[in-house]
Amino acid sequence: MALLKKCFLPALGLLLAYYFYPTTDNFRPEMLQGKKVIVTGASTGIGEQIAYHLARMGAHLVVTAWTEEKTEEVISECLKLGAASAHFIPGTMEDLVFAEQVVTKAGKLMVGLDMLILNHVRTGKLNYFDGDVASLCKTMDVNFFSFITMTSAALPMLKDTSGSIVLVSSVSGKISSPFVAGYSATKFALDGFYSSLQTEFQMMNVNASITLCILGYIGTETEEKFLSGILKNVKPALKEECTLSIIKGGVLRQKEIGYLFSVSFSVWNPNRMINECFVSQKYDIDKFKENQQLP
Ligand SMILES: NC(=O)c1ccc[n+]([C@@H]2O[C@H](COP(=O)([O-])OP(=O)(O)OC[C@H]3O[C@@H](n4cnc5c(N)ncnc54)[C@H](OP(=O)(O)O)[C@@H]3O)[C@@H](O)[C@H]2O)c1
Repeated sequence: MALLKKCFLPALGLLLAYYFYPTTDNFRPEMLQGKKVIVTGASTGIGEQIAYHLARMGAHLVVTAWTEEKTEEVISECLKLGAASAHFIPGTMEDLVFAEQVVTKAGKLMVGLDMLILNHVRTGKLNYFDGDVASLCKTMDVNFFSFITMTSAALPMLKDTSGSIVLVSSVSGKISSPFVAGYSATKFALDGFYSSLQTEFQMMNVNASITLCILGYIGTETEEKFLSGILKNVKPALKEECTLSIIKGGVLRQKEIGYLFSVSFSVWNPNRMINECFVSQKYDIDKFKENQQLP
């Protein structure tokens, strides 16, 4: 027991400190002035607050969500708060053609793109998995494939501006939790796909950044409705503060940030680090380009 206290606990402390470390904050709101940003899922919750922060910072905005009425109100509020411009494109991310069109239309409206913030989410009821694979496929389309579709459509513009992709994910995409198997699977999928893409960007010298945001329990209407009375002794964090951390993470081009119990921190992702430091070194890139006829 004494040995455990002497060696194991300090080692665990060091490991945790290495995995999660505080963010160094060189952020200034002016960094967003005049920047061209798409925010998805902006009718309510986290997306709505991200849009308001960006509006106050003077960004150009194209926001999207499914329901029109609420998002029209978000747009008017953004203009009042000081957005350089604000447009709304309504539709469902179940339709991947729509997902692609949002990016194309936004690029035309703003004449370019600096930041793509992917935040929308399809959540079902908290429940044991009931074998409904059709519903799971829909969740996968909205929470995963539409993210990839929008990323692919935005990449040429983001390469031009050395822009940023920001992905709003969850602790459920790192540690699986009960009653949200489908949701959790989509968030794990984002981590796997985008960590791999980050390494590819590094190998191909693509100067677009990817920031994965791992959120704990944040006080949005949807989440409070879901979890109230179920989670014991856990209070939600303020969405206004969490969303500022998401924007900072994107602007500062951090690879992964966490926001848990109202604390923002950088996350050291061993999977990505191993990829960047070791796995990618094992490939002969010139030969690979030759075979694949890559640029
Ligand atoms: N809140 C938390 O505690 C928490 C924790 C971890 C991670 N997150 C992540 O944070 C993000 C936002 O969560 P939130 O709590 O702010 O959620 P929310 O309040 O429920 O907002 C979800 C947004 O997604 C949009 N949306 C839903 N289905 C859509 C569809 N089929 N097509 C297009 N848009 C659709 C909604 O638009 P309509 O209103 O028009 O349907 C809404 O704007 C999510 O990615 C979530 O996984 C949240």
